[in-house]
Amino acid sequence: MIGDQRGRKGVGQATGSGQIGVTMDSLELNKVFGAVLAVATFTLGVHIFVGEVYKTKPPKQMGFSVQVASATPAAAAAPAEAARPIADIMREADATRGQAAFRPCVACHTVDKGGRNGTGPNLWDTYGGKKAHIDGFNYSAAMRTAAGSGGQWNAEELYRFLEAPSRYMRGTTMSFAGVSRSGTRADIVAYLRTLSDAPKPLPQ
Ligand code: HEC
Repeated sequence: MIGDQRGRKGVGQATGSGQIGVTMDSLELNKVFGAVLAVATFTLGVHIFVGEVYKTKPPKQMGFSVQVASATPAAAAAPAEAARPIADIMREADATRGQAAFRPCVACHTVDKGGRNGTGPNLWDTYGGKKAHIDGFNYSAAMRTAAGSGGQWNAEELYRFLEAPSRYMRGTTMSFAGVSRSGTRADIVAYLRTLSDAPKPLPQ
């Protein structure tokens, strides 16, 4: 540091301009002040941040009652939607829309009769049949268990599975987030139903 300053002064003298040396010194001072200011600002920032963190605690508790109040209608609405009979939901479904919505699925699934398996099993004749319906596909233990206990891919099961596969069937190897929109999901189920020589009936 000292050596550094000396070197700079030397340069100032060599050019014959004392002012450069002074400017250098004030620059150096500015740097020091700047650094001090930066540290002060940072410390202040940390204080404010910590203050905010502590401050948010009491409002959090107050917000609780508001949240509960606002969550009540939503919670009441959700079961109403979930409790809607699958027959009603499927009545509004459209297989053509479902085919379009099926686009992300083709990355892993073929749909033609006797089609090859990909990352996921071929989906011909899945609707209305047993789970793990392709012999020889390497299903997860979760899917095999579901099939072993007589699980069928009826409209409701498909509709619920496709919402969030891994939530519906813990341990499934279908790594797909799910289709959150109820109508789109129903459309996809309607499309899956058409993948058969003799489509099974819709839920009544
Ligand atoms: C990243 C690959 C991947 C994507 C994308 C994917 N799947 Fe799957 N799917 C799988 C795998 C793997 C399985 C087997 C899961 C198991 O064994 O647990 C599966 C299983 C299924 C099954 C059960 C089949 C049976 O024989 O029981 C259905 C129905 C299904 N997928 C439909 C869909 C639909 C509809 C989409 C699109 C909305 C989709 N999948 C997207 C990989 C995928």
